[in-house]
Amino acid sequence: MNNFIFENSTKVYFGKGCVKEYLACKLKNYQTIMLAYGGGSIKRNGIYDEIMTILEKENKDVIEFGGIPSNPTYAKVLEGARLAKENGADIILGVGGGSVMDCCKAISLAAVYDGDVWTDFWQRPGCISFEPLPLGVIVTVSGTGSEMNGGAVITNEETKIKTGRDYPACNPNFALMDPEYTFSVPKLQTASGGFDTLSHIMEIYFSEPDENNVSDDIAEAVMKSVIRNLPAALKDPADYTARSNLMWAATMAENRVIKLGKKTDFEAHQIEHQLGAYTDCNHGCGLAVIQPTYYRHIYKDGLKKFVRFAANVWKIPPRGKTDEELALAGINALEDFIKEIGLPKTLRELGIEDKGILPEIAQSCNISPGSYRQLTHEEILEILKESY
Ligand code: NZQ
Ligand code: ZN
Repeated sequence: MNNFIFENSTKVYFGKGCVKEYLACKLKNYQTIMLAYGGGSIKRNGIYDEIMTILEKENKDVIEFGGIPSNPTYAKVLEGARLAKENGADIILGVGGGSVMDCCKAISLAAVYDGDVWTDFWQRPGCISFEPLPLGVIVTVSGTGSEMNGGAVITNEETKIKTGRDYPACNPNFALMDPEYTFSVPKLQTASGGFDTLSHIMEIYFSEPDENNVSDDIAEAVMKSVIRNLPAALKDPADYTARSNLMWAATMAENRVIKLGKKTDFEAHQIEHQLGAYTDCNHGCGLAVIQPTYYRHIYKDGLKKFVRFAANVWKIPPRGKTDEELALAGINALEDFIKEIGLPKTLRELGIEDKGILPEIAQSCNISPGSYRQLTHEEILEILKESY
């Protein structure tokens, strides 16, 4: 394994009833709470009422910050930071999925920082030598794993750049994770979030080192768990076993544990992020379109690992197959799974009508240093065209 330093400062409270049981205690040192959420699902499924009842009982001053969009924008970050400053928020309580949590992390910096956080912390990696505004999160949809890392993916609409950075200082202080809160997540978002989890694991697994290591072994176990539990949650949205496994698998994929000692790839994410910056597409759906095509481009450069993926994750019998055939059979199995869970397979199905934007998207993608083979922008364009 490669050398590593490991840190994770988020305290997780997981399971049925955890919000009722722990929220008041987690907020006892804070009076003014900035309650941040997305487009309103929490008002329809009862989560908002459950939280407000607790906050009112504790006599908290609540500042509401709703309307955080999927693929959160830098403009929304600045709006939230202004509100937090004007009202003297003591803590941000983010209730939602990756979009809400990421936006809140950026707000926690922008609310206390004098400079421009986009320029200093997203456009280029920065060094956070100050205390962000405290942040706690309540997860309502599984997928990104944002609840237990310092990652925040923000879209700058002016420059058309969507980019993520992971700062340990941005790890939420606490994460409350009640799988029952995800029962109301619609099928497409359930599938897209589950695929995002699988995607994160593959982005890590398909990178060096490839020799025997704990991270890859855990990665295979978590991938198999997602492949088992995602169809079950789609069949029965109130299947607690499936929802709880998906919720923890999402966290495990992105809490840095399975990255230890690995280079990590994330080129599919780089491409999807730019696709998102130009089209505002759903993150997990974008990945589902890109990732199999990307792997058909690079599998020969990491052949042994793709063979292992086919055999260990998809249980494809190796007999009578060359390594290349086996590797391709694993990628085909991944594609069949994407079809089974009802995600789009082409950019056209994703709703992208104008093929003319593809060259600009390809040109704007970052090239990941951790891939089995580094792509050129020309090859990214080929991948996008093949995915169309
Ligand atoms: O906005 P509301 O009305 O709440 O509806 C949301 C939204 O439409 C809905 N939803 C959430 N909880 C629900 C629910 N609907 C019904 N019942 C519930 N309990 O789900 C929709 C999607 O929510 P969103 O937060 O946008 O999804 P997700 O968690 O997939 O987050 C996507 C964002 O996270 C970034 C993505 O790029 C994207 O911007 N990522 C963040 C990462 C990180 N911080 O580590 C890593 C990822 O790779 C990813 O890039
Ligand atoms: Zn992702």
